[in-house]
Amino acid sequence: MSAPNKSYDPVEVETLKPEEIERMRDEALAAFAAADSLDALHEAKVAQTGPTSPLALANREIGALPPHAKAEAGKRVGQARGAVNKALAARQVELEAERDARVLVEEAVDVTLPYDRVPSGARHPLTTMMERVADVFVAMGYEVAEGPEAEAEWFNFDALNFLPDHPARQMQDTFFVQGPEGTDESGSGVVLRTHTSPVQARALLDRELPVYIVCPGRVFRTDELDATHTPVFHQIELLAVDEGLTMADLKGTLDHMVQALFGADMKTRLRPNFFPFTEPSAEMDMLCYVCKGESIGNPDRPCRTCSSEGWIELGGCGMVNPRVLTACGVDPEKYSGFAFGFGIERMLMFRHNVEDMRDMVEGDVRFTRPFGMEI
Ligand code: PHE
Repeated sequence: MSAPNKSYDPVEVETLKPEEIERMRDEALAAFAAADSLDALHEAKVAQTGPTSPLALANREIGALPPHAKAEAGKRVGQARGAVNKALAARQVELEAERDARVLVEEAVDVTLPYDRVPSGARHPLTTMMERVADVFVAMGYEVAEGPEAEAEWFNFDALNFLPDHPARQMQDTFFVQGPEGTDESGSGVVLRTHTSPVQARALLDRELPVYIVCPGRVFRTDELDATHTPVFHQIELLAVDEGLTMADLKGTLDHMVQALFGADMKTRLRPNFFPFTEPSAEMDMLCYVCKGESIGNPDRPCRTCSSEGWIELGGCGMVNPRVLTACGVDPEKYSGFAFGFGIERMLMFRHNVEDMRDMVEGDVRFTRPFGMEI
């Protein structure tokens, strides 16, 4: 700012003449009145009240006046600036009100219009999980096979070497739909299939050898619905029958599956077990994909997924019992095969920390949606 100039006469300073100040004020008022939008008003505000506006520059000149002239000039400029600011604020209010009124009209939503977009649901995680597992085998050349849910007792049990008094046939496990009397000529009763294994027998009867099939499907047992049981659940079954298949092929196939689903460093282990339709039979476990077995006997690294067991039980497997091959017209001297089956609900539980099976059957999209729309 310039130093005080004692010899200077205010009337001589062009910018501080009263009529000059009035002109600046009127010019500013006219600019605000002419601004027809908030943007235009903002521009006018910068031009008329900003640091390089005429009135701001005039204000700066006051400092250069002799002391006796300062008061009058200051008052004049101050009044002009006050009037300008007031006009600016008033125009701002006007333009905002105009804008608000316009927005209300332009952006009005007719809430009474019918709703035309149906919210997209989600595919059920059981479905996507079954497809994921089946895809692993389709990529290896297996075919997807299916069988009926209401199944002949013969396929569900007899063909699979369940003796007539096997406990799984009893009322407490199996939904009997129709007794043997009055059914088809086979004399077999009808049950809701208790596992996907009857598809093994159907595939061997229907298809040319060798047979490589994967069968995802719904199965039924007379369990009450609770956190860990459901009377309707899902299994995926695998059957390979060819010349020269051994348990090593079974093990290699299982290892490949868990690696494809859970990661390259996964593996499985087999524990002896019994199923009427496989011999030898085994229970299959997979390495816990969270702790990779490191929690075993290691209290410093507890694992909730496998309860520090290091392994997670998957399901049953084995070499196809020669009796099954014979019952289905396959020569057990020439062909051998392996099979396995496991529950999808259980896999979903440990793979995605689903704690209650009822969530899977209630059909609430709030459960299914977080799993996404994976195809
Ligand atoms: N079907 C058996 C079950 O439901 C599982 C299984 C399938 C076992 C194939 C051996 C071979 O428990």
